[in-house]
Amino acid sequence: MAETEVPELPVARPDGCPFDPPAAYTALRADEPLARVRCPGGMDAWLVTRFGDVRAVLADRAMSSRGANSAHVNQSDLDAPVPPGSIIQLDGDDHARLRRMVVAEFTVRRVEAMRGYVQRLVEEHLDALLATPGPVDLVEGFALPIPSLVICELLGVPYADRERFQRQSTVLVSTDTTAEQGQAAFGELSGYLAALFAGKREHPQDDLISRLIARGAATGDELTMPELVMLGLSLLVAGHETTANMIALSTLALLDHPGGREVVLADAERAVEELLRYLSVVQFGVLRHATEDTRVGDREVKAGEWLVAALSSANRDEQVFAAADALDFDRETPRRHIAFGFGAHQCLGQQLARVELQESLTRLFRRIPDLRLAVPRESVRYKDNTLVYGVRELPVTWG
Ligand code: HEM
Repeated sequence: MAETEVPELPVARPDGCPFDPPAAYTALRADEPLARVRCPGGMDAWLVTRFGDVRAVLADRAMSSRGANSAHVNQSDLDAPVPPGSIIQLDGDDHARLRRMVVAEFTVRRVEAMRGYVQRLVEEHLDALLATPGPVDLVEGFALPIPSLVICELLGVPYADRERFQRQSTVLVSTDTTAEQGQAAFGELSGYLAALFAGKREHPQDDLISRLIARGAATGDELTMPELVMLGLSLLVAGHETTANMIALSTLALLDHPGGREVVLADAERAVEELLRYLSVVQFGVLRHATEDTRVGDREVKAGEWLVAALSSANRDEQVFAAADALDFDRETPRRHIAFGFGAHQCLGQQLARVELQESLTRLFRRIPDLRLAVPRESVRYKDNTLVYGVRELPVTWG
């Protein structure tokens, strides 16, 4: 196919349901499960749309994560070396070493130990919301600060610095941030984290970073300061916007859904899994490139070619999920989705995200049973062209 004829990565969502992925995915899954597309980031890639193929790509060790989940959308220098500690972009042994070190921090047991903290945080934010007459923007007052403060707790950011840290991290992950503002926030936050973590080397505390430092010293495999800082920033970026957007978008989906409030209060775990599948907020999927010639489905992929694993399409694959476009809280296998990816890079923070979502949604709907939109439904604006899908703001009211 001539270069100019390569179609662009489909990103436009259909008119009608704002939660549905681009309509083109349905036809592609049926007729052209690996389709040649041009990414907004400039390169051509195979768009992988079927559930089975997406899983196969993500499980394949011959697929590199350099570029990982942003370079197909944002222009970036794909030849630049991966910064040490950037867990999401490292491959093979380098990735396995880092993941091994940090995975113990995200076990179900350790995350459950954080549930009480998450509950307190959610309740405090609801107290603050309810102390106002409303309407309020649920994104700014609830959905964004909660994941940010949870990451503060994880990284051992002192209470006195939390407001500043939260402000900087919001700039860093915001879609309205310019490149210059992003660079400045990145510089400030890395400087802040380097000083904070150096302090933890001297005076360890009860937090993830202090434990990583201690574990490294005990095993003789210590993380360097640049690795620790990059890992801290990766956790911040990976865990912040995804969870924040899920909280706000799930609230809207539940408000839209008849009996949504009752569903989430009756079985939060089940409701959250179906919302993760249905909303698939990592909306353009994740990027890989083939390091050797290989096959995906019945298509040959050559070494050096790029692939976009379209998670939102895989999660709507009718061969795997009956009536895939329906938000159906009674599915038999609610956890079958791949909203958290699959394979070696599958989301490290997924248990924590689940706890944050379960606690945020149940407590929100329990404390504010008459929660409703404060604007006409059609005026809600969405993040159509950003890596993580969501609502720009969610004005809500009660009473
Ligand atoms: C609903 C919220 C979340 C969603 C939808 C989500 C989604 C994802 C996805 C799709 C990946 C795979 C990326 C790839 O294969 O290239 C991923 C990786 C990752 N996520 Fe999450 N995530 C969420 C919350 C979190 C949280 C709360 C944290 C931590 C505080 C976190 C930390 C990470 C990290 C560190 C990775 C990279 C793992 C690796 O490369 O080995 N995520 N996430």
